[in-house]
Amino acid sequence: MKKRLLRLLFLSGTLLTLLTACEYDFITPTPPVPPPPPGDTISFVQDVQPFFNSKCISCHKGSIAPNLTASVSYSELVPAFVVAGNPSASELYNVCKPGGIMSSYTSEAELDLVYRWIYAGAKNN
Ligand code: HEC
Repeated sequence: MKKRLLRLLFLSGTLLTLLTACEYDFITPTPPVPPPPPGDTISFVQDVQPFFNSKCISCHKGSIAPNLTASVSYSELVPAFVVAGNPSASELYNVCKPGGIMSSYTSEAELDLVYRWIYAGAKNN
């Protein structure tokens, strides 16, 4: 009787160990972004601002920071929301990437633009 109980305990212990050992956490992967090609030229005015114009300024035109209208967008973003050369440390990139609070307004191509612009030094060009 005692032996059976022990065996049962042993078996359930093994089972529990096996079950918990096989459990693993799902971490939402951040898609790896390859560094842009050297010499990548991206223009804030010609490439990034049009994205703000079409997707963001319906809300970000004054009362909600950052103001992304053309005349003030650069100074609103840099340095408050952008760390030049470091997209993943930049709030602008992080809110736009998958899982970010503004991701639903950002296509993959637009996110790529933002990434490349920041990576290339977030110039006011
Ligand atoms: C429908 C309205 C709306 C649109 C469109 C919108 N935003 Fe926002 N955005 C907001 C609101 C509201 C907040 C403030 C959210 C908060 O503080 O929780 C915000 C906050 C932000 C912030 C600041 C986050 C912070 O940490 O303070 C950034 C940067 C931003 N938006 C960028 C963008 C960009 C880039 C776009 C265009 C792709 C965009 N937003 C489109 C409404 C919008």
